[in-house]
Order: sequence, then structure tokens, then C-alpha cells
Amino acid sequence: MMKRIAIFASGTGSNFQAIIEAVRKGNLHATIALLICDKPEAPVVEKAKKADVPVFTFSPKEFASKAVFESIICEQLQNAKVDFIVLAGYMRLIGPTLLQAYPNKIINLHPSLLPAFPGKAAIKQAVEAGVKITGITIHYVDEGMDTGPIIAQKAVPIDDEETLLDVERKIHQVEHIFYPQTLQKLCLRE
Ligand code: GRF
Repeated sequence: MMKRIAIFASGTGSNFQAIIEAVRKGNLHATIALLICDKPEAPVVEKAKKADVPVFTFSPKEFASKAVFESIICEQLQNAKVDFIVLAGYMRLIGPTLLQAYPNKIINLHPSLLPAFPGKAAIKQAVEAGVKITGITIHYVDEGMDTGPIIAQKAVPIDDEETLLDVERKIHQVEHIFYPQTLQKLCLRE
């Protein structure tokens, strides 16, 4: 059976787009059943509409707590019969409501070689630290910030003359290839 994926995103959605294209090309055998977005104005919403992916947007401020909006998200996920949650630039910590509803089914992409440089602005952190190798990490989500079990990693070298922008570009290129590939392996495995 083809797995059903919900993507959670808050921003540009270049990884969302890369996943959609991998599905279109037949490289990822899954259905992108839903986009969940906590920023109704984010560019990723438009990308989803163009790709005919159903969208659920919400504004966290309008809810009393994370538990409340996550239970509404859970309903959306159940209605869409989602097997996996794939985070692609979702800028908030997943809370206990979603973690308990989807144990070991929530996957995140982080732009560093974890456990180095967790949290925000990971690429900038790596460049400022002067490391010569950084990369990307795909991992299961737990209650911590970028701390769950690692599924896969890919190294990206930083050359001496490269600017932050250069490194960001390189990291995103690797993400766009490696995230859909890794999701395909997971869909086959589970
Ligand atoms: C990616 O760099 C990802 O590693 C991080 O957030 C960024 C999302 O970018 N978690 P985009 O919205 O997919 O373009």
C-alpha cells in the first residue's frame, strides 16, 4: 500500500516542492495527503495549492495552548489517513499530543550534522564556528530540539572562500535530493 504523508512547513517550502517533484517523477512512491502550515501567508501554501495538495493552515496565537491546536491537527491527519508526518521547515517544537498519536512516525530534516548545531540558524552557526565539514541530518522527532534518533546524514564540505549564502545554497541542494530519497527508503521499510 502506498504510504500517505503529511508535510508540516512554515516558510519557503523548497523541500516541500522537492518532495512533490520526487513523487511526480516516480522516485518517491507515496501520496502527499496534506500540508499543515502554521503561517497562513507562507509561500509554501501557494506551492501546495499549485500541486493540488490539500492545505490546513492555522494561527497558533488563536488557540489556548499547543495541546488544543495539535488535537485539531490530529483530527486533520486522521481524516486524511496519514501514515507519516514529515517536517520540512516547520518552525515549532512538536508537543506530546502529536508525539503520542504518531510514535516513531514523525521525521525531521535539519541543516547540520547533528548533534552539532541544533536549533535555529544551524548553517550560520556552522559557518561561524569555522567547521570544514557540515551537512544535513534526517531524524525521528522526540520531545527535544533536534535530538531524536538519527536516520541518515549527508556531509557537505565548506571551502575556505565560501560565504554563508554559498553554503546555504549547497546545503539546500543536498536536502532536495537526499530528503525524498530517504523518505522513499522509510516508506519501503515501514
Ligand atoms: C531547511 O533548510 C531545513 O533543513 C530546515 O528548514 C529549512 C526549510 O527550507 N529544517 P524550505 O522551507 O524547505 O525551503
